[in-house]
Amino acid sequence: MSAKQIRIGIIGAGRIGKVHAETIAFRLPEAEPVVIADVKVQAAQEVAARCGIARVANTAEEVIADRNVDAVLICSSTDTHADLVVAAAKAGKHIFCEKPIDHSLAKIDRALAAVKTAGVKLQVGFNRRFDPNFARVRQAVASGEIGAPHLMHIISRDPAPPPPAYVKVSGGIFLDMTIHDFDMARFLIGDEVEEIYTAGGVMVDPEIGKAGDLDTALIVLRFKNGVIGTIDNSRKAVYGYDQRVEILGSGGSIATANCYPNEAVVSTAKEVRRDLPLNFFMERYTESFVNELRAFVKAVAEDKPTPVTGMDGRIPVVMGLAARKSHDERRPVRLSEIG
Ligand SMILES: NC(=O)c1ccc[n+]([C@@H]2O[C@H](COP(=O)([O-])OP(=O)(O)OC[C@H]3O[C@@H](n4cnc5c(N)ncnc54)[C@H](O)[C@@H]3O)[C@@H](O)[C@H]2O)c1
Repeated sequence: MSAKQIRIGIIGAGRIGKVHAETIAFRLPEAEPVVIADVKVQAAQEVAARCGIARVANTAEEVIADRNVDAVLICSSTDTHADLVVAAAKAGKHIFCEKPIDHSLAKIDRALAAVKTAGVKLQVGFNRRFDPNFARVRQAVASGEIGAPHLMHIISRDPAPPPPAYVKVSGGIFLDMTIHDFDMARFLIGDEVEEIYTAGGVMVDPEIGKAGDLDTALIVLRFKNGVIGTIDNSRKAVYGYDQRVEILGSGGSIATANCYPNEAVVSTAKEVRRDLPLNFFMERYTESFVNELRAFVKAVAEDKPTPVTGMDGRIPVVMGLAARKSHDERRPVRLSEIG
C-alpha cells in the first residue's frame, strides 16, 4: 500500500455500494477499501470477498469508528444518510454520500451543519456531472463555445418503472429520479433556477399513482440568468434508458445522443436498424461512477474542495419539493417559497 492511498470504509452493500466497492478495489489505485458493513451481513460479506476488503463490520457505526478509515462512502438507504453524515463528521471522517442526503431540508441542514463544524469534506453522489458527454456540454456553455445559453432540454427516461414497494419509500419521482436532472440543469447552465412549473401524470403504472406518486412529468425551469429549460421524465421508455441533453445558445447548440453497447448498423431490404441503448444507469454511467470517486479521493488527498458540495446536494431537493408543489397546486412555484 502506498502512503498516499486513502483508506475507505463503505456503508451499504446494495446496488450502488457494490459499484463503488468495485471501483475503489479495482479501478482507483489511489484508494483502498478497508472495511464494509450492511445490515444484511451476507451482502457485505459477499462484496468483501469479491473486492478483497479485509474487514466486515457489524454496523455502520463501527465503520465510522474504525481508526484505519480516512473517508466513508454512505451507500445505504436514503433514510439513513443524514444521521450517518452527522456521525461520520463528528468522528472526523471525510464523507462521500449518495444522493439524496435526505428528503427533509431540516435533516439536510443538520447534516451540513455537522460537516461544517467538523471541517471534513463532503461530496454528494451526483455522478452524471462526471459523464464525459455531459461534461463536454458544460464545457461548451462555460467556455462560450455556443454563445450565451438560451434554451436547455434534458430528456431523462427510465427503461422500466421501479416496484411499488420502492416507490413508496423513494420520496417520489422528483426526489428519486428527477433529482439527478435538477443537478444536471444547475451544472450545465452554471446558474440557479428560481421558478419551476410541472405538468405531471400517471401513464405507466396505476400502482405508482395509488402510492401517491407520478410516473410522467414535464418540468419547466426558469433560471435567474433568463435561461429557460425543460426536463422530460418518464419511468418507462420501451426502447431503453433515454438520457439526452440539448442546449441552444446565441452562437450555436450542443447536443448529446444516447450511448449504445456498439456502433453497428444493420441494413436489409426492409429496414436500417441498430441495437437498443445501454439499458440502465449501471451500464450507461459506469465511467461517471469511477470519475466521481476519483475526484473525491483526489479532493481528500490534496485537501481541496470537493466538486459536488453539500449545498449542491441540498438545492436539488428544494427543486424537487417545488416541482411537486407546482404539480399539486397547478401553478409555477418559486424556489424561495420552499426554503
Ligand atoms: N447515484 C446514483 O446513480 C444512484 C444509483 C442507485 C442508488 N443511489 C442511491 O444510493 C442509495 C442506495 O441505493 P441502492 O439502489 O444501492 O439500494 P439497495 O437497497 O440496493 O442497497 C442499500 C443497502 O443499504 C443497506 N442498509 C440499509 N440501512 C443500513 C444501515 N443502517 N447500515 C448499513 N447498511 C444499511 C441495505 O441492507 C441495502 O443492502 C440510495 O440513497 C439511492 O438513492 C444512487
